[in-house]
This record gives sequence, structure tokens and C-alpha cells, in this order.
Amino acid sequence: MKSWQWGDTTAASTDADLLADHLEPLGVRLRCYPVASAAAPMLAPAQLDASGQEQLLGALDSVFQELQRERGYQERDLVVLYPEHPLLAELDAKFCRVHIHEDEEVRYIVDGEGVFGFVLPDARQIEVTVDAGDYIDIPAGVEHWFRLNAQQRIKAVRYFSARGGWLPVYQERAMQEFPRP
Ligand SMILES: [Fe+2]
Repeated sequence: MKSWQWGDTTAASTDADLLADHLEPLGVRLRCYPVASAAAPMLAPAQLDASGQEQLLGALDSVFQELQRERGYQERDLVVLYPEHPLLAELDAKFCRVHIHEDEEVRYIVDGEGVFGFVLPDARQIEVTVDAGDYIDIPAGVEHWFRLNAQQRIKAVRYFSARGGWLPVYQERAMQEFPRP
């Protein structure tokens, strides 16, 4: 976890324990899995073709195997986003709105950065900037959003116990105006 902040302040924090306390009522779990050094050649380029993606997933398989044992995930795939991605604006519009899923949303960030936003039980909103090595598990039904930051670059593994449950179900609630450095 790189940093986090409230929507009504410009001050960011790097206090991971305090963040965990805030996210605990939602059941959101953040962990760190150091990215395997064997993955490095596939992390350097912003874009990856299909074979590069398979190689990268293979290099990260020890994490998948651990998660399979612990959580029973059946499948995984890779999200690779970069500034020239043809669907970047469309994907940003799709996920940068308050939504929930019928299944949990599980991501392992291995390159770049991304921002997850959450609505806490008291309606305060919080944004968390994640980067390489961060694993995040968002339970079904938790109001959240996702966006890229100014880097517009991320590689993240998605883990699934069932396909389809991660489609966004939009909520009426509006996002606060978070600073976008
Ligand atoms: Fe989501």
C-alpha cells in the first residue's frame, strides 16, 4: 500500500495499521506478497502480448497456488493497462463509479499503481493507492470504485472462484472529489 486518504482532506497517510482498522468493518483485506523476481522481464514493458501474459502469470503461480489452497480460487487472469490502451477511457468510466459485485473482487498488483475507493459504514469515503506487491480482497456487496492515477499504468492479476460475479452493480451514491495528483 503506497498511501491512503479521506475524500475531504488533501493529506495522505502511509499508516497501514490505521488503514486496516478503517477497512476492517468492510471485511476488506490488504496483504503484501513480494513480486517474484522471475517476473521482472515481463514487468518492464508497459504492454504484453498473449504469450508474455502467460509467462507473467506462470512466474506468479506460487501466489496463485497459495491462494487456491487458502481460498479455493479456480482461475486467474491478467489486467494490463497503459496510457495508449484503446479501451482506457471506457474502462475508467466503467469502474470509477460507486459499485458492488455479487462475488468478491480479488487483485494482486504486480506493476504500476491503481486507486481503490471505499464507502465506510459511517458513509465516509477513503481512497487507497496500491502498487506492486499489494494483494486486495474486496468482499461481495462492499461499495467501492477503482481508477488509475496519473501513471495510467498497472498490471494486476485477478483471481476468481466463479466467472461473472465481478460485473459492476452501480449504486446511487456519488463519489466525493478526491485530489488527483
Ligand atoms: Fe469493482
